[in-house]
Amino acid sequence: MSKDKPIGIFDSGVGGTSIWKEIHHLLPLEHTIYLADSANAPYGEKPSEEILRLSVKNTEKLIAMGAKIIVVACNTATTNAISRLRTSYNLPFIGIEPAIKPAALQSKAKCIGILATKGTLSSALFAKTSDLYSRDNKIIEVVGKGLVEQIEKGQKDSPFIKAMLTELLQPMLKAGIDHLVLGCSHYPYLIPSLKEILPPHVQIIDSGMAVAKQTKVVLQSLDLLTDMQQHIPEFYTNGDPKVLQTIIPSPAGSFVVKQMDF
Ligand code: DGL
Repeated sequence: MSKDKPIGIFDSGVGGTSIWKEIHHLLPLEHTIYLADSANAPYGEKPSEEILRLSVKNTEKLIAMGAKIIVVACNTATTNAISRLRTSYNLPFIGIEPAIKPAALQSKAKCIGILATKGTLSSALFAKTSDLYSRDNKIIEVVGKGLVEQIEKGQKDSPFIKAMLTELLQPMLKAGIDHLVLGCSHYPYLIPSLKEILPPHVQIIDSGMAVAKQTKVVLQSLDLLTDMQQHIPEFYTNGDPKVLQTIIPSPAGSFVVKQMDF
């Protein structure tokens, strides 16, 4: 495998750009190719087998585009499909899972909230980690029903979204959480709205930086870090390119967005 091949990243839609941002920040010389499967979003309400089928489709597209490593920038796809992707393809995969561990270890109230999709919260991988930390902590799980659909429309801080969040967070606030884990890569875009709703002592935890660090560690260990010049990041969507274009956390002109069927 050549070190100058791209890092392939996929998500059910535009949300994984929150992970791309961390990867690009930590590894600015790396060529990144991002697939937003917005035509099939949300994954979170789909059966596990369908999430696997879509993850295989995205993986094969990224392999065909030359990826040296694949970052599954979607908690739903990671928790439902990554173990089978790892056994089926001969390249490294990095996944993202709700950061229960740091939240549980830091929580003084011993009470944490997890906001994620139905697909993530009902997965065996999530249940395993959650069981481990629920011995010493109260874990309040809430499905962020409807949130991904709003973000896919480019809505992050509308009164409608804020009303949805206020209702979704009620059981967590009632239970007295002091940490909120964002278990979906779309949700970091809701942080400004969440901060308006949550009491100031509640810490918001997301896994983006940890994923970027893990990507670097794995590339380094395989001697796959590039030593070439910087590339222009490429983003492909099978949905509306305008939403992707406006959400990418990078100055306009510093990346390319293209529409593609996949
Ligand atoms: N970004 C995906 C995740 O991290 C969203 C899943 C969905 O499409 O429902 O779970």
